[in-house]
Amino acid sequence: MNNELRIMQNIYYDNSATTKVDPKVLKAMLPYLENEFGNSGSVHSFGQRALAAVDEARDKVANFFGSEAQEIIFTSGATESNNLAIRGVVDNAIKGGQKVHIITSKIEHPAVLEVFKYLEKNNLVETDYVEVDENGVIKLDQLEKKIKENTVLVSIMYANNEVGSVQPIESVKKILKQVQNDRGEKGLPLYFHVDAVQAVNHLDCNVDMLGADLLSLSGHKIYGPKGIGALYVRKGVKLAPIVFGGHQEYNIRTGTLNVPGIVGLGVAIELVAKEKGPSKLKEKLVAELKNISDIKFNGDLENQLPNIINISFLNAEGESILMMLDMEGIAISTGSACSSGSLEPSHVLTAMGIKPQWSHGCIRISLGRFNSEAEVEPFITALKTTIEKLRKMAP
Ligand SMILES: Cc1ncc(COP(=O)(O)O)c(C=O)c1O
Repeated sequence: MNNELRIMQNIYYDNSATTKVDPKVLKAMLPYLENEFGNSGSVHSFGQRALAAVDEARDKVANFFGSEAQEIIFTSGATESNNLAIRGVVDNAIKGGQKVHIITSKIEHPAVLEVFKYLEKNNLVETDYVEVDENGVIKLDQLEKKIKENTVLVSIMYANNEVGSVQPIESVKKILKQVQNDRGEKGLPLYFHVDAVQAVNHLDCNVDMLGADLLSLSGHKIYGPKGIGALYVRKGVKLAPIVFGGHQEYNIRTGTLNVPGIVGLGVAIELVAKEKGPSKLKEKLVAELKNISDIKFNGDLENQLPNIINISFLNAEGESILMMLDMEGIAISTGSACSSGSLEPSHVLTAMGIKPQWSHGCIRISLGRFNSEAEVEPFITALKTTIEKLRKMAP
């Protein structure tokens, strides 16, 4: 019998997939799962106390984005926010039978790309996809050329979830502003949607600075609970609802409000404003990773989220690295959580033109608030052993 004691790590390096709920968030939510269970739409005191909590959270989210409280719509998460933003604009614009054109990029999250794919089936909707360079940054000249007379929406993410490349949102704002000026005040509106899910923890998200008309947020990426998110909708933006029912959320997103989730989101976003990203930790990890041979860092290294490292190893499959590290108690990802489990190279790496021998050996390390320097050494040791083993087994 082997008496050797196996030390299991407990290292979570997958914070771009989801984050642990901050204890302060949990504490604020608990009363709304216990005695303060009222429906925020009810007239009695139970309901009014719930409504007061919702209003307070709405103010906190609005404050973070530099918007007005009435411009914040609570949703079930960023997937729904993205669907509502894109389908809401399109459904409203095609009401009179007009044909519309919408633009996004090739590296968006499926919560944008799949909505575009769905809308392509409607013969009133035409779509276009902007390419990215080898660093995963959108080609602005292409975007400019793709805008047509009937373009009603441009949807570009603030920062990519797989490679962390930050997109030139302010330059997009300038391009769209020029188009809108040329169209004149009475011309067709051209709205700008920003999927800010991965950026919220680290970057300035003031909606006026970004020029966003619509902006998506997710609770579980910012140490809040799952199943809650928000969509910022600039005053005057015309959006059709995509689900039908009661009158909640200004008739744009009906359904009984998720009061505990909303309270949690409010506290989570308040904490984001106070706590900044773990970039020192990233520097330390990158320095250690550079000692491994035959590697390549992916993404815009000059302008990348401070919590994401995307790295490729020659002759070691990303999925195998993930599984072997998991057996040691270490969680990483091979891309977005959605593409994990598929052996196809991710659409993001493909769009960046990364060759298959590199894209197959790709992993994403995403750091978060609860990671510590003490984890770096055991992680690097486990990773080096894993890579050595896999390379020995490689044909
Ligand atoms: C960039 C981006 N957009 C949208 C989503 C979807 O968010 P949610 O899980 O809240 O639906 C994610 C989740 O990974 C994401 O990273």
